[in-house]
Amino acid sequence: MDFQTRVVQPVLGLTPYQPGKPIEELARELGLEAEKIVKLASNENPLGPSPRALEAMREALAESARYPDGSGFALKRKLAQKLGVNANQITLGNGSNDVLDLITRVFLGPGRSAVFAEHAFAVYPISVQAVGARARVAKAHDGSRGPRYGHDLGAMLDQVADDTTVVFIANPNNPTGTYVRAKELADFLAALPAHVIAVVDEAYLEYVEKDDYPDALQWLVEHPNLIVTRTFSKAYGLAGLRVGYSLSHADVAELLNRVRQPFNVNSLSLAAAEAALADEAHLERTRGVNREGMLYLENAFAARALEFIPSVGNFITVDVGREAGPVFEALLREGVIVRPVVNYGLPCHLRVSVGTAEENTAFVQALDKVLG
Ligand SMILES: Cc1ncc(COP(=O)(O)O)c(C=O)c1O
Repeated sequence: MDFQTRVVQPVLGLTPYQPGKPIEELARELGLEAEKIVKLASNENPLGPSPRALEAMREALAESARYPDGSGFALKRKLAQKLGVNANQITLGNGSNDVLDLITRVFLGPGRSAVFAEHAFAVYPISVQAVGARARVAKAHDGSRGPRYGHDLGAMLDQVADDTTVVFIANPNNPTGTYVRAKELADFLAALPAHVIAVVDEAYLEYVEKDDYPDALQWLVEHPNLIVTRTFSKAYGLAGLRVGYSLSHADVAELLNRVRQPFNVNSLSLAAAEAALADEAHLERTRGVNREGMLYLENAFAARALEFIPSVGNFITVDVGREAGPVFEALLREGVIVRPVVNYGLPCHLRVSVGTAEENTAFVQALDKVLG
């Protein structure tokens, strides 16, 4: 049986998302101890989860025989309080990737198109193609009118066609770490036809420390076509638990909830997310470690005359001045996992997540050895 002949058309052309290499896999391959491996490949929080989240999960364990609260009532209530929205504007997902997928299933399909930028987060093209919709990719800034490699919102607007129903803006974007400024985004939202859904993906929002970086929530009332997505995977340190959410008009949330699996966020994750949200001190520590680590990596790259893309996230993408694949492989042999980004149209760059001071130093030492 050749299953290729049975597959629905859009799936034929898809290639699976390439996740960062797991520590255990590299340990097996190299015969190294897992503890000696430094993983800076998936933009995870190097401090781990909040101790309060761990405690909440321990408490929730005993109830594991029961289905989770499919409505996510308690977590949504906490989020609503914190963010100043109504709980019926929130849609929970198994990671924010799940929410992105819900959006494509509700608003995209054959005969429709989505707009996103060159070098944008890889889940957009996968989700869009999976439902048989067309991707319209806008050229990134070349550096003359905005940050090189960053989203060019003017070019994105130009790509919006009659069949366009969704636009994805990653703010900041992964893997470039670039961001769009408040004024640019406000103008974009004002110019976008009101029937086109604007998704502003704020997976790294908590890390950004720029005055002109917008929290897109401010436009939810003015623009009912806006969906803001966020996650507990990054600054909240819960990537393994898979909790993300979107904030939108209540009518849009109602539509997203129609296709959502009833128990898409499990009970341990719900408990952990609720507790993590309340742990401001952990978030502050996380930001501090990131700020210091980012500065260290920027200085290290500058000292070696390696060009990097200035990033406001918890990762930085650096031009290694040669094909990055072999550099990535050589770093693996040194026990350091980073991320090649050739699939993002950046063949000479590597993306490095900001780790602890120790991890960052280990990476730079390995890089020196590898680049010679
Ligand atoms: C820009 C962006 N959006 C969304 C996600 C999805 O994260 P998660 O599904 O863990 O919430 C990521 C993860 O790397 C990301 O970089």
